[in-house]
Order: sequence, then C-alpha cells, then structure tokens
Amino acid sequence: MAPQLLYGIALLQYFIGTALSCQFHGDIGSREFINYDAAIAHNIAARSLNKQNGTAEQMAITNVRVFDGLVVGPPSTVIITSSGRIGSVCRPSTACPPLEHVFDAGGLTMIPGLMDSHAHPSNISNLVSMASNGVTTTALAACLNVELCASLRDHAGLTQLIVASFQGTTAESSTAALVPANETFQFVQNASEAPAWVARQVAQGADFVKLIGSAPGPGLTQDEQTALVKAAHKSGKQVVLHTASYAAYEQGLITGADQIHHAPLDVPVDDRLLSMFRRGATKAVCPTLTMMRAIIQQAHPTNSSFAPANATVARLHAAGVPIMAGTDANAVPGVPAFVAFGTSLHDELENLVDAGLTPLQALRAATVVPATVYGLHDRGMIVEGARADLVLINGDPTVNISTTRNVQRVWIGGVQFNADNWK
Ligand SMILES: *[C@@H]1O[C@H](CO)[C@@H](O)[C@H](O)[C@H]1NC(C)=O
Ligand SMILES: *[C@@H]1O[C@H](CO)[C@@H](O)[C@H](O)[C@H]1NC(C)=O
Ligand SMILES: *[C@@H]1O[C@H](CO)[C@@H](O)[C@H](O)[C@H]1NC(C)=O
Ligand SMILES: *[C@@H]1O[C@H](CO)[C@@H](O)[C@H](O)[C@H]1NC(C)=O
Ligand SMILES: *[C@@H]1O[C@H](CO)[C@@H](O)[C@H](O)[C@H]1NC(C)=O
Ligand SMILES: *[C@@H]1O[C@H](CO)[C@@H](O)[C@H](O)[C@H]1NC(C)=O
Ligand SMILES: *[C@@H]1O[C@H](CO)[C@@H](O)[C@H](O)[C@H]1NC(C)=O
Repeated sequence: MAPQLLYGIALLQYFIGTALSCQFHGDIGSREFINYDAAIAHNIAARSLNKQNGTAEQMAITNVRVFDGLVVGPPSTVIITSSGRIGSVCRPSTACPPLEHVFDAGGLTMIPGLMDSHAHPSNISNLVSMASNGVTTTALAACLNVELCASLRDHAGLTQLIVASFQGTTAESSTAALVPANETFQFVQNASEAPAWVARQVAQGADFVKLIGSAPGPGLTQDEQTALVKAAHKSGKQVVLHTASYAAYEQGLITGADQIHHAPLDVPVDDRLLSMFRRGATKAVCPTLTMMRAIIQQAHPTNSSFAPANATVARLHAAGVPIMAGTDANAVPGVPAFVAFGTSLHDELENLVDAGLTPLQALRAATVVPATVYGLHDRGMIVEGARADLVLINGDPTVNISTTRNVQRVWIGGVQFNADNWK
C-alpha cells in the first residue's frame, strides 16, 4: 500500500477516535472548539514544510488509461508542463514528444482530481487526508474565522480550496445554537441589511455566499433569503443554501438559491418540488448523503430514517437535476455528526450509486459537474490546458465506483502529492 494511504488511514483512525471521545465525554456544546491563533500559526508554518516546495516538473506519464469524462481509454501518455498544466494527452503514446522525466503508470487508470463540494477542513492535516484520498479541490462550506480560512488556501501540491462566507442566519435558528457564531458577521437582522451583509462577506474574501435555510424552524425569512440572493448575485457570487428539510428545500427553490446542499430528513422531494426545480434558478443539489446517514446513525438512530434523503436523490437524479458529491466532512463539536476527511468522498460516491446514479454519473458528480457549477473551468477534466490535478487509481471506476478508493498517486497543480512532505 502506498505510504500516503497508510498515513490517510492513520489520520482517519485518529479522527474517529477524537470524534467518539468528544461525543461521549461531554465536549459537545463547548464553544471553544478551535484555538484559532494556534491553528492559523500551524497552517501558515506548514507552507515551508513542503520539502518539494511546490514545484511542478515537466514530465510524461506513460502507459496510463485516461478517463476522458465518458470512458476509460486505451494506454496513453499524459504530459504535465512545468507550469502545472496538462500539456497534451497522446493516443497512441508515441504521438507525444519524448521527455527526460517519464513515469510509467503500469496501465493504471487516471481520473481528474476529485472535488468534495461541501467540507469543513480547519487544518493542514485535514487537507493532507483529503489529498491522500485523491480529493484535490474542496469547497470550505462555512468560514468561521477569516484568517483561518485564508491560512488553508494555496498550499502548493495540496488540496485547493474555495471558501464560503460566514453562514448567514439569525440568532434564533437552531444552527446558531449548535455551531459557535460570530454574531456581528453572521447574523442577518432584516432584508434591507442584505446588501451590506453580502458586501462585508465579499470584502473578507468569500468566494461564494453560504446561507442557512432552517424552515420550518426559526431562521431567515423568505424575504431575507430572497434579498440575500439578490445581493449576492449583484456581487457576482453564488449562494449555497443549507437545507435539511422539505420546507427548507421549498423555501430555497422560491428564493432561487444557486445550490441546495444536504437532503431532507423529514419528507422527500416530491413532484411539486421537482416542478419548482424545473422552473426555478437552482442549478444543482449537493445532497451530502454521507452526512445524512451519519446524523441518523450517530445522532438520531431511534427517531429518523435515511429513506427521505435517499429517495430525494433518486428523484432529483431521475428528473435531471445535476447532483454534486459532497461529504460535510468536519470535526466541529456541536455539529450533529462527525465525518472523516478524504475517505468520506468515496463513501459519498458509493452512496450516490446506491441511490440510483451510475458509476459514471457519480464520477462526474465529483469532477466535471461541480467544476462547472462552481465555475472552476480550469479543472474537472483531463484535457490539454487544464490544471494537472490528476489521480492514478487501480481499476475502472466507470464499472465499479469503489475502485476510486485505490489511490496510487496524486498530482495537484502538477506537483506530486507526498504526505511525508507535510509531517
Ligand atoms: C521553499 O521556498 C522558500 C522561498 O519561497 C525558501 O525560503 C525555502 O528555503 C524553501 N524550502 C525548502 C525546504 O526548499
Ligand atoms: C468576527 O469576524 C470578524 C471579521 O472576520 C473579526 O474581526 C472578529 O474578530 C470576529 N469576532 C469573533 C468574536 O470571533
Ligand atoms: C435592519 O437592520 C439594521 C442592522 O441591525 C438596522 O440598522 C436597520 O435599522 C434595520 N432596518 C429595518 C428596516 O428594520
Ligand atoms: C430526532 O430527535 C432529536 C432530539 O429530540 C431532534 O433534535 C431531531 O430533530 C429529531 N430528528 C428527526 C429527523 O426527527
Ligand atoms: C487537525 O484537525 C483534527 C480534527 O479534524 C484534529 O484532530 C487535529 O488535532 C488537528 N491537527 C492539528 C495539528 O491541529
Ligand atoms: C436507496 O434507494 C435505492 C432505491 O432507490 C435502494 O436500492 C437502496 O437500497 C437505498 N439505500 C438505502 C441505504 O436505504
Ligand atoms: C469493486 O472495487 C473494490 C475496490 O477495489 C473491490 O473491493 C470490490 O471487490 C470490487 N467489486 C466488484 C464487484 O468487483
């Protein structure tokens, strides 16, 4: 097994151990879940830990079966340029010019770097765990501290981030009670405050706006949500809406939130909501089935069921709503359930296939679909000119989605990922 896989597993065991001890020894409810200063200093120091120093090297990866977005092709050669891009993809291999540095992939499959469309990394170890598992891009789905979020960005050869705003909500919502809030920067008082609220988030570097839909419970009103989405669009930002109930889905569809994240735990999406999807502005759903399952297993084993979430994905998919793979990986005390970084993306791919996507559709839900929806047009496909975010796996994921777990090697921006560099 590759050393980075062993490291990933060790981290995973560590996370699970930590998660269980937090959950069963009374840490939940503590609002001091991160020492921000220490975490920021540690993340910044990690930049110089990368012994390769993040340099992409011009090289040829030969004897590799490339997943082109539809099928896994015959043995080919992929060129990585010294600027970390894909130079060309040559079939037959001899069509590429000979290069000094060659890596023979031995017939392994190459897929684009995977994207986790919804996660909550807070430190470098979380990113190392993601990269070890082939996750080369993630959307940090809520920023709780601006400096901490910035300290996770742009580490050469490590998982790349796009970062949400603070989660827009109100003091009365149940989310505000669960996760530590930055009241000044997070709570929305009224609809007329929406433009100023969004402007503050954008000024602090948010790549997209995150809102909490808490209907039928207290939280943002329909008017407030609508005003926030309008203000976000005026600033050229998308809105990602947290929604875990039928009523919150309905509110988000009326609002026209660009992306709806999570899946209802109460009542599945029905024909009424599907017709709203058809007419509305919502582009995609990121159901985070892994988190929905974890909530049921870890937090509410007796009073809730996975069926509404599972059925929602089947119905959305059948209706042609684009689905994105996201996990809600986090280690935040107070959140209803813990989900491990990295391995969870593979759990999500399996959950999506279980819910009715084909393996090919699941793979696209973690590559080209989120790249398109989030507007990251430089990644998600193995084509000339794209970022060299590449993962070598053993097996054919268009036949058996679980083979994405067999990660052998990862390049991020043309830099080969090596977990040892980050210790
Ligand atoms: C990495 O690059 C920085 C300059 O950007 C340099 O100061 C440092 O010595 C390099 N570290 C290693 C380990 O090469
Ligand atoms: C809230 O966020 C603002 C903006 O990032 C920051 O200046 C302030 O220190 C934060 N407050 C707390 C209590 O974390
Ligand atoms: C909206 O909230 C802001 C910020 O608290 C406040 O200054 C303003 O007066 C409120 N506007 C209305 C119409 O209630
Ligand atoms: C299950 O019960 C808990 C605790 O009473 C509650 O917070 C949660 O919302 C319930 N979950 C569902 C899906 O009904
Ligand atoms: C990173 O976060 C994990 C939780 O995801 C935690 O267990 C670990 O101690 C943190 N590592 C550092 C160096 O802060
Ligand atoms: C999810 O739904 C599909 C049918 O749409 C079913 O085959 C599968 O067993 C369900 N999964 C779970 C975990 O309930
Ligand atoms: C699918 O791939 C996984 C991971 O390589 C493997 O454990 C499993 O046996 C495969 N399933 C089938 C049906 O081949």
